[in-house]
Amino acid sequence: MSLPGNLLITPRAFVRRHVLSRVVDLPSPLAGRTVMITGASSGIGEAAAHAVAARGAHVLLVARRTDELERVRDEVVAAGGAASAYPADLTDGDSVDALVAAVLAEHGSVDMLVNNAGRSIRRSLEYSYDRMHDFERTMAVNYFGPVRLTLGLLPAMRAQKFGHVVNVVTWGVQIKAPRFAAYIASKTALDSFARIAGREAYADNVTFTNIRLSLVRTGMIAATDAYDRSPARTPEQAAAWVVRALEDRPLTISTAVGSIAEVLNLVAPRLMDAVAWVGSSRFPDSSAARGER
Ligand SMILES: NC(=O)c1ccc[n+]([C@@H]2O[C@H](COP(=O)([O-])OP(=O)(O)OC[C@H]3O[C@@H](n4cnc5c(N)ncnc54)[C@H](OP(=O)(O)O)[C@@H]3O)[C@@H](O)[C@H]2O)c1
Repeated sequence: MSLPGNLLITPRAFVRRHVLSRVVDLPSPLAGRTVMITGASSGIGEAAAHAVAARGAHVLLVARRTDELERVRDEVVAAGGAASAYPADLTDGDSVDALVAAVLAEHGSVDMLVNNAGRSIRRSLEYSYDRMHDFERTMAVNYFGPVRLTLGLLPAMRAQKFGHVVNVVTWGVQIKAPRFAAYIASKTALDSFARIAGREAYADNVTFTNIRLSLVRTGMIAATDAYDRSPARTPEQAAAWVVRALEDRPLTISTAVGSIAEVLNLVAPRLMDAVAWVGSSRFPDSSAARGER
């Protein structure tokens, strides 16, 4: 679905998408680019790696599980794409610094970065009073890791006067769903970081997109029984959003539900508190979140 955030693309992307591509068969702007994708060992990142490589980019795959990362790399290469695997742990500062050093030494710069690796926690505050580590762990992987990686790659992007950073966040930053305080706060931090970084890097032609995704059927949501019958996108559909974000460089990509919730949270916040409370009480914490298994 095309939404307001999708229209906020760069002028060059607008002309290519809405004018030139209607009259000539243009190559993807990803052709020949170096694109780093974190969390590429499964789910959305894996699907995005295939989709981005199919458009002619060299994909640099990042995650912790070396075996899975090498499997994805081999599958991309077998399909005719270019891919390299870089095992790294985004919650470990030394690991991120080593990743940045290795990639810059081998490639000079990264043209585009997809901060996709992440971790979700769904647990009420009621079961979180003695679980400060939930908040620390989500911030480590969803905020500090991508920020450290972005800071490492940004100077080379700014020097070459081209770069784009895509953050895979969640529609939760707009909806502010109960039971997701740790997860949504960490994704909101990254969302805000990108908006401000984009303003500072504006003159250097380095841009940022926040993708505020709804549910996607991956391993991440498998543990939550409440999602078994919920509508969800496929990883391939989510990957198409990543490609769109890289090609058109919009400020945000959102769902209609997320955008409407964002507006309602602004104009009627107390009403939305009540609606969210009623809605979330239909989907209690899982037994795992309650600490029962
Ligand atoms: N699924 C959804 O409904 C949904 C909705 C909105 C947003 N998202 C976001 O989409 C992104 C991808 O999630 P997914 O649904 O595709 O789940 P997934 O299949 O569990 O993928 C998560 C990826 O992150 C990597 N990762 C986790 N911790 C890491 C660390 N410390 N260092 C490096 N890599 C790490 C994992 O690889 P390793 O384990 O190999 O490290 C894995 O490749 C996440 O940021 C998530 O918050 C998902």
